[in-house]
Amino acid sequence: MRCNILASLLEVVVVLVSFLGTNAEDPYRFFNWNVTYGDVYPLGVRQQGILINGQFPGPDIHSVTNDNLIINVFNNLPEPFLLSWNGVQQRRNSWQDGVYGTTCPIPPGKNFTYTLQVKDQIGSFYYFPSLAFHKAAGGFGGIRILSRPRIPVPFDEPAGDYTVLIGDWYKKNHTDLKAILDRGKKLPLPDGILINGRGANGTAFAVEKGKTYRFRISNVGLMNSLNIRFQNHRMKLVEVEGTHTVQSKYSSLDIHVGQSYSVLVTADMPSQDFYILVSSRFTNPVLTSTAILRYSNSAGPFSGPLPGGPTIQIDWSLNQARSIRTNLTASGPRPNPQGSYHYGQINTTRTIILANSAGQVNGKQRYAVNSVSFVPQETPLKLADNFKIGGVFRVGSISDKPSGGGIYLDTSVMGADFRAFIEIVFQNNENIVQSWHLDGYAFFVVGMDGGQWTTASRKGYNLYDAVSRCTTQVYPKSWTAIYLALDNVGMWNLRTEFWARQYLGQQFYLRVYSSVESIRDEYPIPKMPLLAERLQGGTHVPYNSMPL
Ligand SMILES: *[C@@H]1O[C@H](CO)[C@@H](O)[C@H](O)[C@H]1NC(C)=O
Ligand SMILES: *[C@@H]1O[C@H](CO)[C@@H](O)[C@H](O)[C@H]1NC(C)=O
Ligand SMILES: *[C@@H]1O[C@H](CO)[C@@H](O)[C@H](O)[C@H]1NC(C)=O
Ligand SMILES: *[C@@H]1O[C@H](CO)[C@@H](O)[C@H](O)[C@H]1NC(C)=O
Ligand SMILES: *[C@@H]1O[C@H](CO)[C@@H](O)[C@H](O)[C@H]1NC(C)=O
Ligand SMILES: *[C@@H]1O[C@H](CO)[C@@H](O)[C@H](O)[C@H]1NC(C)=O
Repeated sequence: MRCNILASLLEVVVVLVSFLGTNAEDPYRFFNWNVTYGDVYPLGVRQQGILINGQFPGPDIHSVTNDNLIINVFNNLPEPFLLSWNGVQQRRNSWQDGVYGTTCPIPPGKNFTYTLQVKDQIGSFYYFPSLAFHKAAGGFGGIRILSRPRIPVPFDEPAGDYTVLIGDWYKKNHTDLKAILDRGKKLPLPDGILINGRGANGTAFAVEKGKTYRFRISNVGLMNSLNIRFQNHRMKLVEVEGTHTVQSKYSSLDIHVGQSYSVLVTADMPSQDFYILVSSRFTNPVLTSTAILRYSNSAGPFSGPLPGGPTIQIDWSLNQARSIRTNLTASGPRPNPQGSYHYGQINTTRTIILANSAGQVNGKQRYAVNSVSFVPQETPLKLADNFKIGGVFRVGSISDKPSGGGIYLDTSVMGADFRAFIEIVFQNNENIVQSWHLDGYAFFVVGMDGGQWTTASRKGYNLYDAVSRCTTQVYPKSWTAIYLALDNVGMWNLRTEFWARQYLGQQFYLRVYSSVESIRDEYPIPKMPLLAERLQGGTHVPYNSMPL
């Protein structure tokens, strides 16, 4: 069953409350976004980029904790389109998540209004297009959620607050890249790195001597871990995906694909132009790009040496990751200190071990989690669940532990109980770094180390001041363990942020279920795009072009 048929069901059952899934007592912010193709030249060659209101990257979303965001997205691409909100938890509202499994795609020429509430959240995140291979064409932008006025922030108000979207980039366009994957081939290495949509020296950040600036850095790329450094300046880390961190200084910082970090940089050098360097990690050759930190009244380029990047060894990166801690006395989205939630004292009731793998199925390249390589169905999973349509997916179609068997295709959904507190171990037996993201949640990254995880590995967990975040790396031939409080009912995508691997199956959905079925736990289904289409007499468009 498809979205357009489901739409007729919806018409009968839907509760037509405007802005369903928002809280009327909290402020509203309205956005009208027009999604189009347009010429961009990020690496010097002309490409069709995905623009939002003519911008590449798209506009930032500025918000404050608990704001309701009403985002009306007009799809003027000739194919279906969805945006997803990396790190925005969308409590009780997985309908708005904007991934294949939760939301009907916006047909060409139509619009859909996302209604999100940034409930009990602060921090730096981003949005991106989730269908097909659109992410390789842009359509992404920064999301910032500021603290409410009376909630203390553990550093002085910066003189400026910059979004820095970094990511690897191909000169081939997204349809060509997708065609390679659809043929069952691997992608070549990316051609370069973009900083806010531009190549070398394309972006300048203006600063004034003596002042301190916040840089919200997100890796919106497709596969590469990246390292960022400021020539002759140090970065004070203050926030990671919604957690205020212990404020340590770093001369260079690894940011894995899908991750977001906020740093403070003080302009304490002579008034000149300094380079900001971003380079790929664990690759040969190393790709590097630059932006400019430009002092007002700059006397021209600073002539000192460029700061070198870290070595290829993973130990350096692992040690840096372990050094990133929660500031327990600082406030998060609420006035009480972040340390008042004692995650380390809660007993877990379930351990899920997830092993990624790569291989061939029917002569085509696939990627898998616990041997299952995800394939979508016609019907978005959340809708199948809502309308109790059989034959779309089976809860339990992916096991809790690696089976060790060969890769096979299925529409993998794992069941989980609302309010359970669980442990997930990502076991990476491959020799490349992984980056895992869970929609709808933040989790505590309690441990990571080389080799095989065993129950004895728990002895090394940080049960005191681990960071709570939504995207974590797993080093080659290593494991990462997280603790997760399942307090958000819904159908949530757990996926690699390595986009070709996600596209070819390294993902599944976690169905966090409550038998109570109360509006207190989950909002009812909103109007979906194809309902509007049906009413306007539109024709069916395949929702997605992921390969089967
Ligand atoms: C979106 O942009 C396109 C191209 O500029 C334009 O034709 C169209 O009218 C715009 N749509 C809206 C809703 O602004
Ligand atoms: C991508 O490039 C191919 C040619 O290599 C072209 O046929 C296709 O229309 C392009 N797609 C987009 C979205 O620009
Ligand atoms: C589409 O946009 C129009 C005009 O802004 C708005 O009235 C309508 O509610 C939108 N439709 C959807 C499904 O969001
Ligand atoms: C641009 O950046 C490169 C390093 O990526 C540097 O070698 C070059 O001198 C820069 N050019 C200008 C005009 O600043
Ligand atoms: C932690 O946050 C407090 C504010 O509650 C701040 O005063 C302190 O400097 C921070 N500590 C570190 C190590 O970042
Ligand atoms: C957690 O488990 C331990 C040992 O199984 C038990 O002694 C303790 O009471 C449990 N704690 C809670 C909060 O349930």
